[in-house]
Parts: sequence; structure tokens; C-alpha cells
Amino acid sequence: AAIGETPAKQQQVVNVAHRGASGHAPENTMAAFEKAFEMKSDYIEIDVQMTKDGELIAIHDTTVDRTTNGMGFVGDFTLEEIQQLDAGSWFDEEFAGEQIPTFEEIVDKYRGKVGLLIELKSPELYPGVEEKVADVLTERNMHRPNNNKVIIQSFNHESVQRSKELLPNIPHGVLAGMNWAEVTDEQLQEFAAYADYFNPNRNFVDEELVERVHRSGMEIYAYTVREQKHADELFEAGVDGIITDFPEYVYDFPGQN
Ligand code: G3P
Ligand code: CA
Repeated sequence: AAIGETPAKQQQVVNVAHRGASGHAPENTMAAFEKAFEMKSDYIEIDVQMTKDGELIAIHDTTVDRTTNGMGFVGDFTLEEIQQLDAGSWFDEEFAGEQIPTFEEIVDKYRGKVGLLIELKSPELYPGVEEKVADVLTERNMHRPNNNKVIIQSFNHESVQRSKELLPNIPHGVLAGMNWAEVTDEQLQEFAAYADYFNPNRNFVDEELVERVHRSGMEIYAYTVREQKHADELFEAGVDGIITDFPEYVYDFPGQN
């Protein structure tokens, strides 16, 4: 790097543990969130959905099939029913008996200790989910300005807008899959009207996209890193944050943690 220029690898890059440290423990369980905390991630990413009886829980897929010993749609289970499932054994017998945690349990355990990147997952299936998340945060006074380690994001951008109206002081992010690979400056401007972060699939991130996102006034956290070389590419592109299953790929360089 030229004199006075910070080498890309020494920039402070925000370290987000994707579904917890999900390379090391079963995703979206307390074991994965605890592992991320122990590994000093800056944020834990949490996929939030809703049970049949209106309770917020952490799970990624809209069915329980892949990550538990049960079968069926998340929204067809009551909280009591879904918490009877084993959410750990599929990953490793060591985690047998891990339960699907409630969103409130995660917030209560980690607020003030680690940042919360809250994803509203498939919110179109759960009318009112934005209000429920807002209630949980508001009841705990986390809706005020400068509560700066909570971010809410979704692939459903209408849901992001609805949430931003309920929680104007909390930063929000738009998630962008490969269908946004050709995102225009005009579209970035539209996102920036309500979002503070543009969080894209890492496969379409380059230096130019990072600059364009920054020019629009947003920050950029890219997902999902599962290999060191992919973290290195994102450091070079200049992203602000990296969402990774393996926190060690993001902080294991000079100047971080
Ligand atoms: O936080 C970004 C990332 O989690 C989005 O993709 O499918 O892993 O929820 P997905
Ligand atoms: Ca997610």
C-alpha cells in the first residue's frame, strides 16, 4: 500500500457470526450464539420466524426438517411443540438436546454483550412479525437512538420499510441476493431512503459496488463466508462487515480484536 494508506487487511471489518458461529455449532441455537460470543464476534446474526401461537423463535428454514428431528412448517408448530424438537443432533451428537431458542431469550442473554443482526426471515408468512420484534426491543428500551448494536434486515424490502417505520432509530438493512447483482445507483438511492445497510451475496461484491454503496450513504456487510479466501476477497473489496459461519476467518489479521 502507498504511504498513508491502510492495507486492506488492517481495516476494521465488522465480524458477524452467521446464525451464530454456525461452522462450529448448530445454527440458530444457544450453542452457536455462545460460541460466537466466546469467539468475540461483533454481532450474532439471528433468523427470526414465528410459531402458530405467535411466539418469535430463531430458525432459518421455513420447515424444521433440515435442522431438527421433526418435520413440517415452522408456522404449524406451537412454541411448546417446536421446543420439544432436537435442534442439535443433526449437526453433531455432542449437541443433542439443543432447543430452538426464542428470540426474547437470545435478546435477554446477549444484549449489551454482542451486537444483534436480526433477520426477519420470510416475514410474508408471518403477518405482524415486524410489530412483535419491535415490541420485544421497545419493552427493553432498545428502540432509542444510539442503541448502536442492533440492526434489522430482510430480503423482503417491504418488511424492512415497515420495521423502519416502527423503529426509526434502529438501523435497518436490505439483504440482496443474486437477483440484485445488477443493482443500479437509482435503486441504491431508493434503498438508502429507509435502510442504513445494503447487505449483498458476496458473489457480486467488488470494489466498485462497495464504492457505489458508500456513495449512496449506506454501509455494506456481505454474506456468507465459509472459506478464508472469500473473506480475503471481501477485505480487498473494502466491505464494512463480513457475515461468516467461521468468525476466525474475519478477525485473524492485524488490527482486529
Ligand atoms: O445475514 C445474511 C444471510 O443470513 C442471508 O442469507 O439464507 O443465510 O439467511 P441466509
Ligand atoms: Ca440469515
